Amino acid sequence: HPALAVSRAALLPPPGGPGDAAGQALPVESRPFASYGSALHIALPKAPRAGQLLTLLIDYEAGEGPGVCWLSPEQTAGKQKPYMYTQGQAVLNRSFFPCFDTPSVKFTYSATVKVPEGFTAVMSATSWEKQKDNTFVFKMSQPIPSYLIALVVGDIVSADVGPRSRVWAEPCLIEAAKKEYDGVIEEFLVVGEKLFGPYVWGRYDILFMPPSFPFGGMENPCLTFVTPCLLAGDRSLVDVIIHEISHSWFGNLITNATWGEFWLNEGFTMYAQRRISTEVYGLPYTCLEAATGRALLRQHMDATGEDHPLNKLRVVIEPENFGGFCLFLGVNPDDTYNETPYEKGYCFVSYLAHLVGNQSKFDAFLQAYVNRFKFQSITADDTLGFFLEYFPELKEKGVDSIPGFEFDRWLNTPGWPPYLPDLSPGQQLMRPADELAELWAADSLNMEAIEAVDIVGWRTYQLVYFLDQVLQKSPLPEGNVKRLSKMYPKISKAQNAELRLRWCQIVLKNNLEAEYSKVKDFLHSQGKQKYTLPLYRAMWGGSEATQALAMETFSATAPQLHINVQNYVKKILGLGGAE
Ligand code: BES
Ligand code: ZN
Repeated sequence: HPALAVSRAALLPPPGGPGDAAGQALPVESRPFASYGSALHIALPKAPRAGQLLTLLIDYEAGEGPGVCWLSPEQTAGKQKPYMYTQGQAVLNRSFFPCFDTPSVKFTYSATVKVPEGFTAVMSATSWEKQKDNTFVFKMSQPIPSYLIALVVGDIVSADVGPRSRVWAEPCLIEAAKKEYDGVIEEFLVVGEKLFGPYVWGRYDILFMPPSFPFGGMENPCLTFVTPCLLAGDRSLVDVIIHEISHSWFGNLITNATWGEFWLNEGFTMYAQRRISTEVYGLPYTCLEAATGRALLRQHMDATGEDHPLNKLRVVIEPENFGGFCLFLGVNPDDTYNETPYEKGYCFVSYLAHLVGNQSKFDAFLQAYVNRFKFQSITADDTLGFFLEYFPELKEKGVDSIPGFEFDRWLNTPGWPPYLPDLSPGQQLMRPADELAELWAADSLNMEAIEAVDIVGWRTYQLVYFLDQVLQKSPLPEGNVKRLSKMYPKISKAQNAELRLRWCQIVLKNNLEAEYSKVKDFLHSQGKQKYTLPLYRAMWGGSEATQALAMETFSATAPQLHINVQNYVKKILGLGGAE
């Protein structure tokens, strides 16, 4: 990556053998590869034998790359000290250190990190130790792909929340962080192990990131990074933690060999997440959560068009460079992050379970699958081949080629999933929300019926589901949203980020100018990509007033957004960024 300055490469003598410890310097050259990085060519003195082990030493300096984020004190919760974090997925770690930055290659690593007084370093590693001079030594003893190496340096402290888990956060957030997850993490790990086999990573810790962290969660092994938006005070957003824990098997143990099959990571993880959720919280609640996921997929496909090439499970990511010409035929893997690999992927895995027809048999398959491919990087063909091998009676029946449901169609045809899992067990939680949304969409409001519904006891995801229904029916008849806002301060004045997102979307779609400041406040308070982009799209697709709001908000918040998110917003606003 251009942000990486490689100063020297050398071939080290074989371990234990004679030779210069500084190694033999080798010629280094950077050659064009793609818009998101180049190829580092190192010329060996002579061609190695097949299977020969070589040790290369590369001296380099990393600084302002997209994978390494430097935050000023104002961008932290405590506002006292600077902070740095890395975010590797999908192809950003090449600006952090030289590597085979592809998920098809796995390796162990160790790192020695020296930081200034008053700072702590943490990494995605199985063990760490603090030595003198503020030096931290880390070791990851299991093979992982490059995108899972992660480092944070900041004013952070930790608190135990379980036998193998602690939370990390800035000192001003640590109490809230501990309270949010004290005593709940272990149960998810235990259920995960029961379903999918041993948890191989040792610890499972959670690091609460500064507000500009672009994701809800990132499954860095041993140490999940999460947005501070999860600090809702009531554990209502714990599904994100269950999701990241599920990556311990799907994604981190079995990894997609290419970013073109990202659904293997995320679709299986969504399925695993909902299996754990079903065991812990029951089927009705899990179906409700899955229904909000389906609503996101609907919104995404409506926004992009069902036929969009990224709405396939298998995305074509061609090299951008052909015979020395820079042809932009390819897709930047980071641009393929959308709802399709998650929710269409979830539908495909659910379809496989439906073909099996028995939950415990399918659970047993998942465990066998993890055992078969753990520590490997694989393709969907490997997955589906193993599925048919594991269930020979299904293979015999030709389930991979049932008209309309061909495996090939699932993978290679864009659009709405041909099969949707049955979410009707969630009806008892969804129906009241559906009915209430119906009432609020009426031309003349039936206040008596509306007042008869008490939403005080509703769970967060019931409110989220209700708001998604209201959003789908918006714009509502004149005046209705204003009344709704007044009637439910629990929603319109919510602090919960999932509720705030939906409320802001409703405000924009209904041109409720009196509450535009809430959109602005929400976008100032955090920088999660999945919250930020939909709101800018809504503002830019709206009135002159909302377009002005978008411009004003972006000029004020751009410096605090992750560089990728900045570029996507620029693209939405026609400011020449690359989406
Ligand atoms: N691995 C993803 C986040 C990610 C994806 C980072 C692609 C970079 C590129 C993580 O596991 C994830 O899916 N997070 C979700 C959680 C949600 C589905 C519960 C998020 O951030 O919203
Ligand atoms: Zn994920």
